[in-house]
Amino acid sequence: AGSLLSVADLSVEDVSAILSVASQLERRPTAERARLLAGRRIALLFYESSTRTRTSFELAAKSLGATTTLVSDKSSSIEKGESLKDTGLTLRALGAECIILRHPSSGAPFVLARETGVPVLNAGDGMHEHPSQALLDVRTMLMRLPGRDASTATAKSLDGVTVVITGDILHSRVARSNALLLPRLGAKVLLCGPEPLLPEVALHLGAGVEIVRDFDAALRRAQVVMMLRIQKERLAGLELDLANYIERYQLNGERLAARAPDALVMHPGPMIRGLEISGDVADGPNSAIELQVSNGLSVRSALLLRALYTGGFESVTV
Ligand code: CP
Repeated sequence: AGSLLSVADLSVEDVSAILSVASQLERRPTAERARLLAGRRIALLFYESSTRTRTSFELAAKSLGATTTLVSDKSSSIEKGESLKDTGLTLRALGAECIILRHPSSGAPFVLARETGVPVLNAGDGMHEHPSQALLDVRTMLMRLPGRDASTATAKSLDGVTVVITGDILHSRVARSNALLLPRLGAKVLLCGPEPLLPEVALHLGAGVEIVRDFDAALRRAQVVMMLRIQKERLAGLELDLANYIERYQLNGERLAARAPDALVMHPGPMIRGLEISGDVADGPNSAIELQVSNGLSVRSALLLRALYTGGFESVTV
């Protein structure tokens, strides 16, 4: 209970409750917020590098009054060969009541939750999922798209919205979580990229998800365009001509102005300026990239309360 391992585990009502609590928390006075998890212990267990997810979970936990500890693979007994299970049991023995896990293996958070019995929040597992990212992406869309309400979610919240997700779909846990979540809120998702990064046969497309190879054609249909980094660290064995990729798939000012001048531009980060996105677009008026980052605080605060708040998650909202 309280874990978040996959967006598939969340009902639309769960998503609504998380967005509602995130909105309420932003309006609460700092001192009041800091009492909600006072004295609770949260462990951040990171086997891969992270800036946004790690920092926002840590700041969110501290803003709720919790104590945090960071264990990373590079400075812990993981380097000596200690297993995920034993690391988790050690954290539990030290009083960790919730573990936030980033791991290169898909499914690792499920193993950790099963072996420790401690609530686990998936902070990105291999090429599988990044559920808190998809939730903060939804909040960002609802805040920036006209006529939407970011404090709730229904099966129609994103009706009429086409989201183009472009780039290294194959290796992207962000794409997977968004492709699972957005159609359940009414959005259409177009996945866009060249065959090596978006192999047709390897995808299990759900309802509301489509592959469009031509980025310019996809952009003409977009209300939101989400760009993804080429994950060079996971590309082993794949042939990719970067100059050709930039020509066909980079989101630059000229392309955006010609195909989707009003589209909301998103990127989960880290972004490589000059590769998948140009600097003028990243910093331009369409960009919601910084809002995505700051929404990490409120959404991850809500997820921590969902995992640990003893007064009942729903009652946080009253
Ligand atoms: N979006 C995201 O997961 O960024 P980090 O790798 O910096 O946490």
